[in-house]
Amino acid sequence: MDQPVHGVGVTPVRSGASRSLDQIDGPRGMPLLGNALQFDPPKMHTVLEGWQKRYGDLYRLKIGRHPVLVLSDATGIASLLRDRPDTWRRWHVIESITAESGVDGVFSVEGDAWRRQRRLVMQAFDPGHLKRFFPSLVRVTERLLARWKRAAQSGTAIDLQADLMRFTVDVTAGLAFGSDVNTLDAQRDAIQEHLDKVFPMIQRRMNAPFPYWRYVRLPIDRAYDGHLERVGDAIRGFIAEARRRMDEDPSRRTTPSNLLEAMIAAHDADSGALSDRELAGNVFTILLAGEDTTANTLAWTMYLLFEHPDAWRRVVAEADAALGPDDLPRRFDDVGGFEFTEACIDEAMRLRPVAPLIGLESNREASVLDVRVPARTVVFCLMRPPAVDARHFEHPAEFRPERWLDAEGAAHDRKSARRATMPFGAGPRLCPGRYLALCEMKMVLAMVARNFSLARVGTEGGHEPPERMAFTMAPVGLRMSLGLR
Ligand code: HEM
Repeated sequence: MDQPVHGVGVTPVRSGASRSLDQIDGPRGMPLLGNALQFDPPKMHTVLEGWQKRYGDLYRLKIGRHPVLVLSDATGIASLLRDRPDTWRRWHVIESITAESGVDGVFSVEGDAWRRQRRLVMQAFDPGHLKRFFPSLVRVTERLLARWKRAAQSGTAIDLQADLMRFTVDVTAGLAFGSDVNTLDAQRDAIQEHLDKVFPMIQRRMNAPFPYWRYVRLPIDRAYDGHLERVGDAIRGFIAEARRRMDEDPSRRTTPSNLLEAMIAAHDADSGALSDRELAGNVFTILLAGEDTTANTLAWTMYLLFEHPDAWRRVVAEADAALGPDDLPRRFDDVGGFEFTEACIDEAMRLRPVAPLIGLESNREASVLDVRVPARTVVFCLMRPPAVDARHFEHPAEFRPERWLDAEGAAHDRKSARRATMPFGAGPRLCPGRYLALCEMKMVLAMVARNFSLARVGTEGGHEPPERMAFTMAPVGLRMSLGLR
């Protein structure tokens, strides 16, 4: 098995940090604009990866007049990610742009606000809570099964990413807010259709050379306001519904049964604990954080499995052996298994990470590898080059799920193996939704394997699906046709 890398501890400024920012090489930009016009926002990650091949693990570019370091050494990245929120924070542009859309929650806030919100959010995603919620996950998966059976019977091609987003929105709303939104069965105007517009707009604005929307509203900005309004209605609905449940059953105030109830209880018990805006901002954050990430990872995994029929056959054999007569995993403990299926997910996250780029900024003087940087230095962490790098993996460009397993088919120490790829980030801001995401993904893959044959997963033209960066990295134009087993 390929050797995972191990992170190192970090002090704000390492004693061996000998170089300064000016000594770092990188692509030449234009006066005033820097390299900003060299990115097409949807392809930003591939442009940065391309430069990495030329300039190495640490290079420098400019956005406008501001220098940005681009780091792709896994050990160095892990150090920065771990040293949050004190020495490093998320790139400040994320906080201001998400706040303008009302998405100011645990993902984007910093310092003490983050510490407070993170504590609340973590409780809702621990494995014990997931176990209690498991029956709802089964119900949502049954709906996806029924929807895809209808498509298989009628020979209709499935818009894979759109259907998976409906699935993930339904799961997240059930788990985190206790609401059964059922976008999977909704005919039109489901909340998911409005949510889908948020990440692409945030990405567009993050890449804009100038925040024009603060001065002029183009038609695209006005349309976006409409989508935000509809999502806002849905969020107010979730909060009102949860409040009603808590009024009817006051015991929910002391033992909340989901994240939203816990947040409302904290808000009501101590008005300083969570403001109205933070409450709504976190509902929005969780909806978004759970939607594209999991749906896109699943879509990429299904595409890669279709391209590798031997691996798919092993997934099918694993589902048949684990489920017996059942059509999907019906007990929480069932999803603990599926070692080979999970290895396929790990391999898909290595090759097609939905977060290929994490933007950070220093709060004070610090070091990045051997470079001293002043406060407010922006660092883009490239999460894929180390993963496809031969330093960590043999035949790095190939889809080989077995690399995550030992000779007996058992998992290696995944925690340490993931240190090389960090698909869920690292350190104190590690993704709190990772157990839920893995549970959802194994559920869907096992359900598909048990009930369907994969007739086709691909694009209309049969070419490799392009990668589009819209805050998360998504496959473009993926359609799936299923046969019944
Ligand atoms: C395959 C699915 C997923 C992937 C690949 C993923 C990946 C990530 C990554 C890379 C981060 C940034 C971590 C860092 O800065 O170190 C993150 C943060 C976060 N994720 Fe996920 N995520 C997934 C699913 C979910 C789900 C299902 C939820 C919740 C429903 C969720 C909620 C969050 C939240 C709230 C944060 C912010 C944490 C903080 O800043 O403290 N994620 N995720």
